[in-house]
Amino acid sequence: MTIVCRISAILLCTVAVSCACAEQRAASMYKTSCAQCHGTTGEADTPAGKAFSARSLNSPEVLKMSDAEMLALIKKGKGKMPAWEEILTDDQLKGVIAYIHTLQKGKNLAASSSASSEGGGAKP
Ligand code: HEC
Repeated sequence: MTIVCRISAILLCTVAVSCACAEQRAASMYKTSCAQCHGTTGEADTPAGKAFSARSLNSPEVLKMSDAEMLALIKKGKGKMPAWEEILTDDQLKGVIAYIHTLQKGKNLAASSSASSEGGGAKP
């Protein structure tokens, strides 16, 4: 019994650790490959981002893109953005997209809370 418990505890740990690793890998991939233009927060407020006029990843146009659209765009490149399909695998790019969503999340919440205060809500 105790052995079974121990084994499942070990399994749980391994799963948790490998998940954290995947997230960290995606985060560091974003930082090394994308942040020079798109900025660590996705705002594209870096010198390179401004020079290439990269759009903020938190802009409404990007927020409404589906993961599939984003993946296709990143793989093929767009305008001044290089194509990434020969550098990063689909799986790596999907991880990076998931990481971009974590950057967008804060903005989404901010946007929806300001929208609800503008939106009138229930009138007295
Ligand atoms: C050399 C600078 C540069 C790098 C590095 C770069 N991008 Fe971009 N990215 C751009 C530019 C410039 C655009 C806007 C292209 C346009 O609309 O003409 C763009 C657009 C995008 C868009 C679409 C949003 C839009 O504005 O239409 C996404 C999503 C994106 N990049 C993700 C990434 C990811 C993920 C990485 C890292 C794997 C990355 N980019 C690396 C310059 C860069």
